[in-house]
Amino acid sequence: NTEPLVLGIESSCDETGIGIVRGSILLTNTVASSMEEHVRFGGVIPEIASRAHLDAFVPALKQALDEAGVTLEEIDAIAVTAGPGLAGALMVGVSAAKALAVATGKPLYGINHLVAHVGVGLLDDCGIEGHTADFLDGLPREGLGALLVSGGHTEILAVRDITGDVELLGATLDDAAGEAYDKVARLLGLPYPGGPAIDQAAREGDGSVFAFPRGLSTRKFMGTVEEPGPHRYDFSFSGLKTAVARVVEGFEARGEEVPVADVAASFQEAVVDVITQKAMLACAERGIKTLLLGGGVAANSRLRELTAQRCAEHGIKLVIPQLSLCTDNGAMVAALGARLVTGGRQPSGIDFTADSSLPV
Ligand code: KG4
Ligand code: ZN
Repeated sequence: NTEPLVLGIESSCDETGIGIVRGSILLTNTVASSMEEHVRFGGVIPEIASRAHLDAFVPALKQALDEAGVTLEEIDAIAVTAGPGLAGALMVGVSAAKALAVATGKPLYGINHLVAHVGVGLLDDCGIEGHTADFLDGLPREGLGALLVSGGHTEILAVRDITGDVELLGATLDDAAGEAYDKVARLLGLPYPGGPAIDQAAREGDGSVFAFPRGLSTRKFMGTVEEPGPHRYDFSFSGLKTAVARVVEGFEARGEEVPVADVAASFQEAVVDVITQKAMLACAERGIKTLLLGGGVAANSRLRELTAQRCAEHGIKLVIPQLSLCTDNGAMVAALGARLVTGGRQPSGIDFTADSSLPV
């Protein structure tokens, strides 16, 4: 097999991910998460995440090499998330990758985390229905977009060439959607991480009980798009979080029981409505015909449902990788790294630095 054997390293948040691919074939995707250590704080603590990466890195690397049945010497290239993400956390992965590259003499590629989320589509077996290996090659002509929703980011991307021509159409101005889920869960006394807890609680509730704000919304009613404006594809979830807090406080002040399920469902409806609405707007205006949904919040049942429904209404093909490839992982970094190798891209060298706000 002449396809490059690539080691991918991801450490931008609380997951220490090591992935190994042979071209478009996934050999292993090892993930060690420090989530448990953040639970009592109700959110990822950067310093704890960095230390956890230090502890997890070597065991995760050994396990990945073991599972893939390859040695470090056999690896053709090393790819590592250079950003965006938590600065200290990124630094652990980048430093480790540089050390490996220097010790082995292998070429090193610094990878953009957001682009890597789309890069999982380069894998043959990424869980996308009807998927073929040339997925990302054929798509630019058809217009590929990505909707990334996680605890650390919320973005809409236009992908014309995965190896270099990706445009950030919109992003959150404050909290990420997953972060909003985590904060609202805390307000409602639900466990961390809040996403799954709210998803669950919302099933018993009515999402139309509370009319929570859709931050930066560009439309009044579905289908009626208002005139272009700033932050057209951007998100803001801090006002929504505050609105939920007000409602919860109101019930508590009156000595009434908080209707957790209805608040959870109404909050979720607001998040999912504005995310899907903006994604559809971007697709319509930017000629996007295929939309890839990624990030940990892709697990959300209502997001999946409403995205599927609105994509169908707008004639957009929706693709969702398997969940282990939606959440942060090393395989996506390796997959994109392999494509850079086969595309003849120059390695980054070892001079690049981790950049917490690395642009796409
Ligand atoms: O991608 P991920 O594993 O890590 C990063 O944040 O990068 O995403 C984790 C986030 C957390 O905020 C978590 O609450 C959210 O994804 N999440 C969910 C669901 N499952 C996980 N949010 C909503 N509904 C879910 N079912
Ligand atoms: Zn991510």
